[in-house]
Amino acid sequence: MSEPLGIALLGCGTVGGGVVQLLRNRSDHLARRAGRALELRHVVVRDISKQRSCDVPRGLLTTDLAKAISDSRVNVVVELVGGTTWAKDAVLAALAAGKDVVTANKALLAEFGTEVFAAAHHHGRAIAFEGSVAGGIPIIGVLTQGLAANRITRLQGILNGTCNFVLSAMTDDKSDYNTALAEAQRLGYAEADPTLDVDGSDAAHKLAVLARVAFDVAMLPKQIERRGIVDVSPLDIRLAGELGCVIKLIADAQLHDNELTLLVAPVLVRRGTPLADVAGAYNAVRVVGDAVGDTLFYGAGAGAMPTASAVVADIIDMAIGRAQATFKAMRLWEPTTGIRLRSNDDVVSRFYIRLTVADKPGVLAEASGLLAMEQISIAEVIQHEATNDGSTALAIATHLVPAGKLRAALDRINQSDSLREPAVYYAMGL
Ligand code: HSE
Repeated sequence: MSEPLGIALLGCGTVGGGVVQLLRNRSDHLARRAGRALELRHVVVRDISKQRSCDVPRGLLTTDLAKAISDSRVNVVVELVGGTTWAKDAVLAALAAGKDVVTANKALLAEFGTEVFAAAHHHGRAIAFEGSVAGGIPIIGVLTQGLAANRITRLQGILNGTCNFVLSAMTDDKSDYNTALAEAQRLGYAEADPTLDVDGSDAAHKLAVLARVAFDVAMLPKQIERRGIVDVSPLDIRLAGELGCVIKLIADAQLHDNELTLLVAPVLVRRGTPLADVAGAYNAVRVVGDAVGDTLFYGAGAGAMPTASAVVADIIDMAIGRAQATFKAMRLWEPTTGIRLRSNDDVVSRFYIRLTVADKPGVLAEASGLLAMEQISIAEVIQHEATNDGSTALAIATHLVPAGKLRAALDRINQSDSLREPAVYYAMGL
């Protein structure tokens, strides 16, 4: 067997603990898969005295990043700290010290992908990042290897386990939002700052990473139109159910004629379709390629062991040399396809609209009239009895309409005196 692959792990939280567990508990199996032993040489943490759930030999723990990355017995630095400050400096320092990098840090790659990929190229090193998107689903490998022959035309996914867990709990168990989110935090799915999950930022980061790999295009997450799940109400979930749908936070990329639209938003997904059945913290990614057609990948999207599974797969690929060869061929530091980003205004979809209106004659006629002014045709309407304050929720499902036209109509509707609160809208079955 070749020389062992030396590893320095940065961070020993939820995922780091899973990686330590795999490296320590199945070393023989991993050595057979990698063709050499995988040896953990340092675990860099902020506080050595902190109680940890994982079983790291105390002698490996250090607070000294410089010592760990300058160790000549270390070949690969595995960054599992997260965030874009300390982690970014550490990754750049590791590359400059001649180490390959494995990271699960989607925020870093989404915000600073071009810079860190270019640094790796400059230093003749590689970065592998399977753990950064969709936890245990090997979607980066799917795009860089399995579907590499294809021109990808559509990529659609449930990419945030926390949001899917919360929406599933609100739908299936009638759980309230805060209780479900607290449970997702307790189970280790949520980010250190769960705002990043629920406001759609985490899914936007992951979509930016996937889009770079799938479409060879660089963008910043702020260029992705994004709506989170914070405003999804139990009433919307109930009305969606009456329309035969469940609400999911969907990340969506569509390519038409060299123009790419990107969107993260709650969507009403029709029951019985594959994405509707993705429950709890599970993720799923649908990829459409021009040669392969429609494909779907499903698995645990968050949590210690699923993400550790992806991280250790990257370490094995580094040990074999596969990750380095793929990184060199992909040239992610200089996207070249000339694909342009386009606003979502032209994306055509059905929409769900909820209007909270005064329950009086002519309100439905007024709303449908304002929709008709933008050529928006109604497919279904649901109205329940008025509440004590005389208002009622009017749920309208439209036929296909470009998002820009829908928004223009809602701007008019929002000015109506009959409206008790601003209109709510979500796309249906993108
Ligand atoms: N907070 C993320 C999620 C963790 O809930 O999906 C995995 O990236």
